[in-house]
Amino acid sequence: MNALLLAGGLGTRLRPLTEHLPKPMALVANRPWLEHLVIHLKNQGIRDFVMAVKHYPEHIRNYFGDGSKWGVSIRYAVEQTLRGTAGAIKNAESYLDDRFIVVNADIVHEVHLLPLLEYHLQHGGEVTIGLTEVDDPTQYGVVEQDRLDRILRFVEKPRLEEAPSRRINAGIYVMEKKALRYIPEDREVSIERETFPLLIREQVGVYGQVISGYWMDMGTKERYRKIHWDLLNRTCRLPIPGRENGSGIWLGDDCEIGPGALLVPPVLIGNNVKIGERSIIGPFAVIGDDCEIGRHVRCSETIMWDRCKINDAIHLNNCIFGYGLELGSRQILHEAVMNRMGAMQA
Ligand code: GTP
Repeated sequence: MNALLLAGGLGTRLRPLTEHLPKPMALVANRPWLEHLVIHLKNQGIRDFVMAVKHYPEHIRNYFGDGSKWGVSIRYAVEQTLRGTAGAIKNAESYLDDRFIVVNADIVHEVHLLPLLEYHLQHGGEVTIGLTEVDDPTQYGVVEQDRLDRILRFVEKPRLEEAPSRRINAGIYVMEKKALRYIPEDREVSIERETFPLLIREQVGVYGQVISGYWMDMGTKERYRKIHWDLLNRTCRLPIPGRENGSGIWLGDDCEIGPGALLVPPVLIGNNVKIGERSIIGPFAVIGDDCEIGRHVRCSETIMWDRCKINDAIHLNNCIFGYGLELGSRQILHEAVMNRMGAMQA
């Protein structure tokens, strides 16, 4: 059974970070999320991956190649035009096993697939949709199920009092390949809006099973930040690179921390980072590899990707910076999301 990772969307809500980058390649705790995902799924026994790509596919290809560095096999189904979440699956059809897993590659999760798979085999339908329960379902497609957990319908962005449940599509499915006969070729098709409702009408057996464990989609800047704070306070238990000294400070190799500088936990500092004298980093800061931070800088609730250069006396709060951003001295930035023109990952 192989896994298809949907990684081709434009990621418009995460711009400018995704201007020239597939959203699943956005760094999460200093490593592309897609890499965490491949490792997480590999640890559950999946060795054969297909990546459905469209927006800047070369970033993904260049990074992962054939997957051998991770001990897995990766093939690419490239779309010439955006095909949507179901069209992308159809486009990858020739690579897929008779039964396969689909994962939206922008979902940060620590879901265990085995219970979902066992449930799928037990009910014998063509699709099992992993569901997650959220406090506020009003931004999502909410499911209504019968007593056998068959999905009856999806209600898109309901008002709270009209939501049939708090269960939403988690973007993780087990599918039988024969279900793809319902997806038309050569046009954009949404799995949530078109394919699942059709499969439900055709009564091929569309079931939903609540998955446990951390789940958050990184689609918006707010949620992208929240994922980091959840990682740092260990609400999300996915591994964080670097050594933790027991007090919520993760420190990479070869870092230079200047005299009087303070790391206020929780904080994650990548490899080869320089922090100037009397700077205060944290709480809730994630600093990428090879960043240089000047003197008297204050940086809290901020994520910066590799190679950023922050000059002296800058105050940062709630910011996100893409690769290699450079800031001149003596600035105060709140909630800035910035990306350098043409900055590449490697
Ligand atoms: P926004 O533009 O911000 O809505 O983001 P998006 O369209 O990239 O993501 P969305 O949340 O709509 O999609 C969920 C997952 O499916 C993401 O991992 C996307 O990369 C992926 N996806 C969405 N549309 C396509 C598509 O047309 N082709 C492929 N291959 N993947 C897609």
